[in-house]
Amino acid sequence: MIQRSAYASAAVIVAAAVTVGAIAGKFTGAPLLFFGHIAAMCCAWGLMTSGSVIYSVCTEWLGFEIGKSRMVHGIVQSAAVVFAAVGYFCIFRNHQLAGASQFGFDKGNPTGKVVHALLGYVVLAWMLLQASQGWRKYSALSSGKVGFLVKHGLNGRGLLLLAAANMVIVLSTFPFSQALFLSLAAGVLGTTVVAVLLTAPKPVASAREGGDAQPEVENQEPADLYEKLAAGDQ
Ligand code: HEM
Ligand code: HEM
Repeated sequence: MIQRSAYASAAVIVAAAVTVGAIAGKFTGAPLLFFGHIAAMCCAWGLMTSGSVIYSVCTEWLGFEIGKSRMVHGIVQSAAVVFAAVGYFCIFRNHQLAGASQFGFDKGNPTGKVVHALLGYVVLAWMLLQASQGWRKYSALSSGKVGFLVKHGLNGRGLLLLAAANMVIVLSTFPFSQALFLSLAAGVLGTTVVAVLLTAPKPVASAREGGDAQPEVENQEPADLYEKLAAGDQ
C-alpha cells in the first residue's frame, strides 16, 4: 500500500520543480552566464531536495527494492553536484570577464550578496563532501556493513537547510515586490523544511541510515537482515 509519506515526497518533488521554474523564470532576460548560475543552482537545489525524499517514492510507490532506490538517490544527488559545478563555473566566468571579485567584495555590493557568495562556497564544499560520503556509504552498505556513516542523513538535512537559506538571502537582494519575494522564499523554505521533516529519523528511516542507536560496527549483522530493516520489513 502506498503510504502517506510517498504522496508527501511526491508533492515535495513537484513543489521543488515549480519553485525552480518560478525563480529561473524571473531571470530569463539576464546575461547568459548570470542566468546560467541562477538556473543551474536552482536545479542543484531542486535535485538535492527531491533526491533526499526519493526513497519513499521509489520503495513505496514504484516498488523498487532498497538497493535500487539507494542507487536512484545517489544518481540524483550526483547530478545535483554536477549542476552546482556548472552554476559555479558560470558565475566565476561572469565575474572573471567583468573583473569583479569572486567573493562579492566589490565596492557598494549589498551585504546580502557578499554573505551569499561566502556561504555559497561553504554549500559547494559541503555538497562535495556529502556526495563522496554518500558513495562511501553506498559501497559499504552494498557489501553488508551495518551502521556505517550514520550521520550522512543528518549532514544532508543540514546541507539542504543551508542551501535554502543562502538562496533566500540572495533573493532578498533583488528588487522584487514583497509579495513575489515572499512567494519565492516560501517555495524554497517550505519545500526544504518538508523534505527535512520527511527524512528526519523515524524507525524505518533510521534503519535505512544504519540508525543512530546502532553502534558503528562493521559486518555486525547479515546484510539481508539490514535490507529487511531498511525496507521496513521489521
Ligand atoms: C544552492 C544554490 C547556490 C549556491 C551554492 C550559490 C553559490 C554562489 C557562489 C559560490 C557565488 C560566488 C562565486 C563568485 O563570485 O565567483 C555566488 C554568487 C552569486 N550568486 Fe549564487 N549560489 C546559489 C544560488 C543562487 C541563486 C538562486 C541566485 C539568484 C536568484 C544567485 C545569485 C548570485 C549572485 C547575484 C552572485 C554574485 C554575488 C556578488 O558577487 O555580488 N545564486 N553564488
Ligand atoms: C550531495 C547531496 C546529498 C544529500 C543532500 C543527501 C541526503 C541524504 C539524506 C537526507 C538521507 C536520509 C534519507 C532518509 O532517511 O529518508 C540520505 C541517505 C543516504 N544517502 Fe545521501 N545525500 C546526498 C548524496 C548521496 C550520494 C551521492 C550517495 C551515493 C550513493 C548517497 C547515499 C546515501 C545512502 C547509502 C543513504 C542511506 C540510506 C540507505 O540505506 O539507502 N547520498 N542521504
